[in-house]
Amino acid sequence: MAQLITTPGPAVGSVSGQSLKKLLYLPIKRWLLLNFKLDSTYFKKQPDRIWLDQHLYPRLAKLKQGRILFVGCAYYTWESLKYFDKGVDLVTVDIDECNQLWGGKNHLVASILDIDKYVAPHSFDIVLLNGIFGHGVDTPEMQIQTYKALHQVLKPSGLLQIGWNHDLIPDPTALEISQELFVKTSFEGLPERTTFPDSTHVFDFLRAR
Ligand SMILES: C[S@@+](CC[C@H](N)C(=O)[O-])C[C@H]1O[C@@H](n2cnc3c(N)ncnc32)[C@H](O)[C@@H]1O
Repeated sequence: MAQLITTPGPAVGSVSGQSLKKLLYLPIKRWLLLNFKLDSTYFKKQPDRIWLDQHLYPRLAKLKQGRILFVGCAYYTWESLKYFDKGVDLVTVDIDECNQLWGGKNHLVASILDIDKYVAPHSFDIVLLNGIFGHGVDTPEMQIQTYKALHQVLKPSGLLQIGWNHDLIPDPTALEISQELFVKTSFEGLPERTTFPDSTHVFDFLRAR
């Protein structure tokens, strides 16, 4: 697998520093919630999660460097962050302040529509955009703004992986802006598009033009 070439570094506008909240309060709260309140068994059994866990994340786990933006954090995505090598500059982002709890060390509270205002231009090798289109970023106008912002923060030829549901929104890759700024691509043996017979999930890979 090709190694990504980038200089790791903190995201502009990120929550930085080793505050007491980050060192103690958040880990303890997370541990209590994961062990006594929340159960991610349902999610782990879904075909889309199985594909992420068995196909996409193991490939990403091989990357030893590079900068990756993981969009949308929830209790059932917490374990996914463990796939990434420590050499990778992983930035997580969620619009909901509460989800800082499920973000990585370098987490942003921001809307993906405005991500280009928070991070350096053309600084990311990969953006993982799962469950955002159709789960908050629903209108074509919002999706167009997201495509523009992501194109701004991705390096040339950077990878954009989109997970969406065909029962919730029309195909976002059919938008003119998607084709103007991105080209469909395969990734490390995975096809341009993956669908499931028993699920409405669709996974697409695009590359920034
Ligand atoms: C269905 S969850 C998807 C979580 C995860 N990415 C996954 O793989 O399933 C949707 C998440 O997207 C976040 N979200 C919704 N709109 C957003 C926006 N405009 N910018 C950033 N995050 C957003 C929500 O707060 C929520 O945590």
